[in-house]
Amino acid sequence: MADAGPAHLILAVETSCDDTCAAVVTAGGEIRSNVVASQGLLHERYGGVVPEVASRRHLEVTGPVVADALERAGVELAGVDLVAATRRPGLIGALLVGLSTAKALAAAWELPFTPVDHLHGHVVASTLGERPIEAPYLCLVASGGHTFVARVDHPASYAVLGRTLDDSAGEAFDKGARLLGLGYPGGPAIDALAAEGDPGAFDFPRSRPGAELDFSFSGLKTALLYTVRDIGEDEVRERAADLAASYQRAIADVLCLRLREAVERERVDRVAVGGGVAANSELRARVGRLGEELGCEVWIPGLALCTDNAAMIAAAARFLEPMHYPTYLDLDASARAVEPVAKGA
Ligand code: KG4
Ligand code: ZN
Repeated sequence: MADAGPAHLILAVETSCDDTCAAVVTAGGEIRSNVVASQGLLHERYGGVVPEVASRRHLEVTGPVVADALERAGVELAGVDLVAATRRPGLIGALLVGLSTAKALAAAWELPFTPVDHLHGHVVASTLGERPIEAPYLCLVASGGHTFVARVDHPASYAVLGRTLDDSAGEAFDKGARLLGLGYPGGPAIDALAAEGDPGAFDFPRSRPGAELDFSFSGLKTALLYTVRDIGEDEVRERAADLAASYQRAIADVLCLRLREAVERERVDRVAVGGGVAANSELRARVGRLGEELGCEVWIPGLALCTDNAAMIAAAARFLEPMHYPTYLDLDASARAVEPVAKGA
């Protein structure tokens, strides 16, 4: 049970990028509803997320998505005890829609409100459900915008042990997929294609920058670019599955290597993964095996809790101090990521 104060039912809204999300979660971490309206198809033709298009779609669907989440949970707004929303980081226009909507809903009922950092949501996604992880634990977060390994001593915060110095793992997937002529988002496309390929067919670099637990994926992306140029269009088409499998193997290798080093260094025997890349089938299997090998208990959330969702935002809100009406009314969204100050270390 979380130390969440009096709030029993939490309504959370998340619109930091291209998914419009709302969820109802109990203070004990039970997910009553978790609705995601994906804009994937809308952005596919541009090969990436177009910020203005994303904001406009959020404006259209945030209301209905919130209504849907409440209905699926079998509650009305009057029955909600706390409202939460993603405040940062992300696309500023997209964030503003969800944050403003959530603040307005809270204000209309004079409810408390909790602003949440999106990355904190990914870190604590495994605290939800029937087998909640308990601190201390290590969490590998690999998403479209960020990649880091964190130590969680109390779920109100986390300490980053190592992070990517350039591209995120999700960007590596998305940029790699573009080089292979696959659609957007690239992660699921590479994941599916890799299942038919030989992961040992191409030898891609595994970068380990510096002595810390940092990551770097830009060299890997460049290596794929050169390989694609060298072998030519026809061979790329013929061997796309081998390229995808080898590229995916390189990303999973680096992520698992750093996770292993973090476990060995921190001597923490509980490990979780989060973020969209944690939906990757190879990474999921490999992290499971790593746990067995190192004698760690592993939490790999269901796919809906890895990719962007509002249940994880509610999860984080359970551990934070809420703001009371009307102090949150002039709270602003912020595009930038802010490193947390770890508590309870
Ligand atoms: O966490 P997320 O949904 O959004 C951000 O916070 O960025 O992560 C999105 C990223 C994208 O780069 C997408 O390609 C990647 O997660 N992704 C995957 C898979 N599903 C989503 N990457 C690899 N394999 C997947 N199955
Ligand atoms: Zn995310």
